[in-house]
Amino acid sequence: MDWFDWLSLFAGLGLIGYLLDREIYFYEGVHLGPRLQAWLYDRWSKKYDEGKRESQLRDAEMLAGPLLKLLEKTPEPFILDFATGTGRLSYALTGQPGFNGHIIALDLSQGMLVRAAEKLSRASTDLDTPATARPAGRVEFLRHRTLPLPFPNAAFDAVCALEVLELFPNMDEALAELSRVLAPGGVLLTSRGTEASGRRAKVKSKLDFGLMLTKHDFETFEIIPWWKFFDRVIAIRNGASEPAGRKRLQDVLQCSTCGQIQWERSVGAMKCLNCGNVLSVTGEGIVLN
Ligand SMILES: C[S@@+](CC[C@H](N)C(=O)[O-])C[C@H]1O[C@@H](n2cnc3c(N)ncnc32)[C@H](O)[C@@H]1O
Ligand SMILES: [Zn+2]
Repeated sequence: MDWFDWLSLFAGLGLIGYLLDREIYFYEGVHLGPRLQAWLYDRWSKKYDEGKRESQLRDAEMLAGPLLKLLEKTPEPFILDFATGTGRLSYALTGQPGFNGHIIALDLSQGMLVRAAEKLSRASTDLDTPATARPAGRVEFLRHRTLPLPFPNAAFDAVCALEVLELFPNMDEALAELSRVLAPGGVLLTSRGTEASGRRAKVKSKLDFGLMLTKHDFETFEIIPWWKFFDRVIAIRNGASEPAGRKRLQDVLQCSTCGQIQWERSVGAMKCLNCGNVLSVTGEGIVLN
């Protein structure tokens, strides 16, 4: 190889390194496909809470409290915690006095869900946790890797999607799905990546974010500062409907093979009674879709 070949090789390796760095640290692997993305998150899951401690300090005050206030008239809200990660929102919600709802905590990464399940299980057995704030039985975990979401229209009273919209190659497609599974009059709790977040290509101004919400059938919304990298967004879906009420995962999960919702649950598995499709359930209670 002459000097030009060596130079090209180093330039090429440098470029690949730069692109990988951008992809992994700025875009969290979103362009690598769901399996690789899940693998990256699995690796990150053990350190995730450590890195995010500061941003999680006000979860009760900024997230759980305001959400439950908006759901005041829904005694047993059925909530989707989309891209739950290590379960920060489920943890904050179940810790609220008087929370009487049920949460489906969904993520593409099994590693993240394991952390979430461990955290919630610790809170349930911690003797300092008041009996009314124990998460056990209030949260079900679902690993699901892609859009569309496996739920019927208008299935949930509230849908939460924190620090995740910017990770989608097409934010509109994600928001359309979240709107579809939210009941008319239901609450969306989400976030807008700020200009300081570093994902410049993905940052939408408050005005554009608001327009995007309007386009996806949300009428009232509020975008306020939350922490350095994200604003908090609360939006209400147009219209009104009866609360989804007391439901469980098996009441809303559409079978990926036949589309029906007809499950038989046993330890370690969920079986579709219509087509026989079987989903494994891990020891931590995570349903693998
Ligand atoms: C930055 S974390 C946010 C986690 C959590 N919502 C929070 O605020 O701490 C992003 C999460 O989104 C999940 N995620 C990314 N794309 C997803 C998708 N298409 N479906 C489900 N989860 C996804 C990742 O696995 C990760 O747990
Ligand atoms: Zn089926």
